[in-house]
Amino acid sequence: MDIFRIEGPVRLCGTVSINGSKNASLPIMAAAILAGGESTLSAVPDLSDISIFSQLLEQLGCQITRSDDGQLCIDSTVIDNPVGDYEIVRRMRASICILGPLLARKGYAEVSMPGGCAIGDRPVNLHIRGLRELGAQIQLKNGYIVAEAPNGLIGKDIFLGGPFGSTVLGTANVMMAATLAKGRTVIESAACEPEIADLANCLNKMGAKISGIGSPRLIIEGVKQLQPVQHEVIPDRIEAGTFMVAAAITKGELKITNCWLDDMMAVVDRLRHIGITVEAAKDGCVVTHSDGIKPADITTQPFPGFPTDLQAQFMALLSLAQGNSIIIEKIFPDRFMHVAELNRMAADLRKEGSVVIVAGVKKLIAAPVMASDLRASAALVLAGLAAEGTTTVSRVYHIDRGYEKIEVRLNPLGAKIKREQTQVV
Ligand code: EPU
Repeated sequence: MDIFRIEGPVRLCGTVSINGSKNASLPIMAAAILAGGESTLSAVPDLSDISIFSQLLEQLGCQITRSDDGQLCIDSTVIDNPVGDYEIVRRMRASICILGPLLARKGYAEVSMPGGCAIGDRPVNLHIRGLRELGAQIQLKNGYIVAEAPNGLIGKDIFLGGPFGSTVLGTANVMMAATLAKGRTVIESAACEPEIADLANCLNKMGAKISGIGSPRLIIEGVKQLQPVQHEVIPDRIEAGTFMVAAAITKGELKITNCWLDDMMAVVDRLRHIGITVEAAKDGCVVTHSDGIKPADITTQPFPGFPTDLQAQFMALLSLAQGNSIIIEKIFPDRFMHVAELNRMAADLRKEGSVVIVAGVKKLIAAPVMASDLRASAALVLAGLAAEGTTTVSRVYHIDRGYEKIEVRLNPLGAKIKREQTQVV
């Protein structure tokens, strides 16, 4: 198992280019199932989650090749095993988004029911409800969701909202299934996330007829078949936000390119509110921190609200604010595994249900800490850059799921991060 040894504090300066989005790539890879043939995706990041998803598609029968220039070629001519195996699904919950495409193309799918994870329960009831509305018969057998639609799916008006608002992958699943359904589907309370818009744009390139893209009302006119596609995945707004926090927490200056600021208004708003300068620049922005950090209140919400995937990173940043901040988690109320770890680094955080009160401290102090999930581990790395001393972050495989060689990206900017292998005891 790898660990990071992070020397701090450092000041980051320089230019970093943002990679393609993990959370856009995964459902778009699933969309390749819908059309038999060879689809080519570019800007797919080289992450362990992408490798796991590739293995999943290979188990279905697809052939996958990755070229040196980062293009991912998915040949889905043959899908002869429409089964999402437990061993893969338990490692990556996004595996659930093969359910809709398999059902639409093969009329049958078996996908292991995802279990709980470090950020909460994460049910899939809305995925199942949406697909049932399209006419699928779905049962749970031996921990597997078994879905059948031998005579095809039928378009329907579907309300897909749940207690926490829209669902990102639920929208992806139902939208993908509806592209090949007979007639018109309306998804009301659809997720508006840029990753869903990218998926919809990709599906339209494949021959789907989706309108209302980027709005909470998606209209999908079913078509008989889709064609393979060539598509470039959008930049990763969460990676961009993480680098913005890296500039801010190290009192640095970073030029961030291949970054779509229009998709990040809520994040930029909070950064400016706390005194960080974010200036739009060609192809991205420049983020500078010169004065101290002011406190702020942050509530995570579905897009265009503040993203839950940046909550942990902002908590690390606000722990150094001059005053008290409040962070309210409205998407995953239990997504606070990083709180106790940040407190080990001398942050002053108090959790009350789905709220964390962040009392600003003058400095963070290095400590051995443990990564628990992807974004929590990013927060620990950010804290380590600012903390005095040597922070060790264990279980960095969590961070490798969503950030491509983060130490190789941060070190040229001034970070001092070493990846070391340790023996598991
Ligand atoms: N929900 C339900 N029922 C469902 C589905 C979701 O009640 O059937 C609830 C969830 O429990 C949660 C809320 O709805 O309270 C939103 O969950 P959503 O379905 O939108 O999450 P997801 O699609 O499973 C994606 C991202 C997550 C990101 C969330 C929210 C991917 C692969 N995953 O998950 O990304 O946090 O949307 O934006 O796109 C990450 O990258 O670190 C990550 C966890």
